[in-house]
Parts: sequence; C-alpha cells; structure tokens
Amino acid sequence: MKDQLELMLKEAEQEIALCSNPNDILNTKAKYLGKKSALNSLYSRMKELSAEERPAFGNQLNLVRARIESLITERGNAIKEASWAKKAVVFDSSMPGMPLDRGGYHPLSIVRREIDEVFLSMGFEIAEAFDIEDEFHNFDALNTPQDHPSRNLADTFYVEGGKLLRTQTSTVQIRVMESYKPPIRIISPGRCYRNDKPDPSHSPVFHQVEALVVDKGISMSDLQDTLQNFAAIMFGPNVKSRIRPHFFPFTEPSAEMDISCVVCGGSGCRVCKQSGWLEMGGAGMVDPAVFDILGIDSEIYTGFAFGLGIERIAMLKYNIPDMRILFENDLRMLRQFKGEM
Ligand code: PHE
Repeated sequence: MKDQLELMLKEAEQEIALCSNPNDILNTKAKYLGKKSALNSLYSRMKELSAEERPAFGNQLNLVRARIESLITERGNAIKEASWAKKAVVFDSSMPGMPLDRGGYHPLSIVRREIDEVFLSMGFEIAEAFDIEDEFHNFDALNTPQDHPSRNLADTFYVEGGKLLRTQTSTVQIRVMESYKPPIRIISPGRCYRNDKPDPSHSPVFHQVEALVVDKGISMSDLQDTLQNFAAIMFGPNVKSRIRPHFFPFTEPSAEMDISCVVCGGSGCRVCKQSGWLEMGGAGMVDPAVFDILGIDSEIYTGFAFGLGIERIAMLKYNIPDMRILFENDLRMLRQFKGEM
C-alpha cells in the first residue's frame, strides 16, 4: 500500500505539471482528490492494516493529500496569472469604452424638490423631525383623544419602547412649536407610515409635506392664498383651489383642500371621478388647545397648518395611475425620469 501511495504521488506530480488550463486543473483535482480517487480508496483500505501500522500510514496519507492539494492550487494560480497576462497584452486602449448608465432622480424626489422650491420662494423654511416618534408628538399634543381610532394597532405601527412610526408629518408642528417662538413659517416634507394594505391609492409608507404658519393676525384667507399660490406654481396658472369643511383634532376650523382637476380642467373625467376636483390634503387653523399644550398664547397668536400628499402630486404630474408603481422601483419606470433636475 505504501508503494502504491508513492507511485500515485509521482503520477499526480507529473500530471499536475502538465495541466495547462482551468479544466485540466478541475479534472486532475477530481482524479487525485475526489471521492473515487486512489487516495480515497487507500483511506478505506486502512482497516486492512494492523493497529500499530495504522497511525503512521494515516499520517502519510494526510501528508500526500496536503501535498497534492498545494500542488494543484499552485498550478491553478499560475494558469490564472498567465491568462491574465495574456489578456493584458490584448487590451486595446483605443477601443470605445463601455457606455455608463447614468442614474436619475426618483419621481418622488423630483416632486419633493419642486415643492421645497415653491415654498422656499414664498419665504418658508424647511424643518425636519423624526420618523420614529412618541405618542405625545403624534397624538397627545395634536389634541387627539385617547379613544381616537387612528391610535389603534390596526392603523398605527408601534415599535419597541412605546414608540411608533409617525402616521403624519403633523408631528413636526409640535416639534417646531416646542423649540421656536412665533413668527413661524415652515414646511416639513417626509415619510409617514400607516398600517394600510397597498392598493392603487394606498401604501404603508407614503410622504406628506406639512406646512405651519404662526403669527399675529394669521387667518383662513392666508391659508387659502398659500394653497392657491402653491397650486398655480405647481400645476399652472389656470388651476383653481378650494377648501371644504372637515374635521381634524388639532385644527379648528378644519378643512380639506382641493384643486381643480389638472387632467380635464374641471369638466369631469376618470381621474377626478367626474367631480372636477382633486383632493390634495387636510388643513385648518391651529386649534387653540394645541397652542395651550405648547405654551403659546392663543390670545395673541393664530396660525394655519396643512398637510399635502406628495404621492398624489407626483402621480398627477407624471400621469402615474397606481401608487404602488412609485415604490416598486422598476427600472423601466425610473428610466423615464432620467436627466430631470
Ligand atoms: N395630518 C393630517 C393627515 O394626515 C393632515 C393635516 C395637516 C390636517 C395639517 C390639518 C392640518 O390627514
């Protein structure tokens, strides 16, 4: 058995030296180290030896195996290097390069930047706060009753430590009024989270832009002016806007904001469901109860706030029929926006 082993090693050494490509290496490796190799069968034949001979022979087998392994690795590396060297020689620096695919902005980013620009031009500043919030900033300070349905587990994602993923950017109203004294004039674009099933107009993650203005003598007509200015810059000078009575716990009075349908111009179509109007978000005058919680004197100051849905605006601007398209990141969709901004 010893002789057999030595013979096999010699044979292996010669064959490895003759390997000239990666395939040879693979075959040789299988032949000398694989399951059906002579080496392997010598391992199983060890039981024919006496108990005294066995350890020494086992040792020898291991040594031979290690030797073959290292020879094969060495030869394999040498072959690889030689082939790289060959390729380097044929590299032609005068050949045209590979075309580089340039990235572009996501439609939500494009629209968000446009919204920022519009409000910056009106004298607003941009505020940012946290996606992970506490109940105080998402509900309590926004005057939301303990039994309000939006607090339900079925609607709000709660995380560890009594925190939650904010369901609205209105949290930023509170954060800003905690830290700054009026006059305040901010917008805050950002992500919101609600436990909604994805469908053409819902997504568990979506974006809002919050606006908050607090000063002496702010009235509902300032809210309407701001909305109208925004709509005209964003969608064109012929777009009209309106507000309708609604309810939010943190505004009084509260309203919903509409703009005239940007697809049909108000005459009624599929997009506006024949109503001529498109809903843009919620709004209202800051409820004095909110000012009280934050120690702002509601006898001196008034304010308005609103929250717009960014997906809605992007879908209208880019004629995107289903909100889910905005979150799938299909390259065929994203490529259409290349080069903008
Ligand atoms: N936060 C409200 C929502 O998500 C919208 C809103 C913002 C309403 C500001 C009034 C004032 O529905």
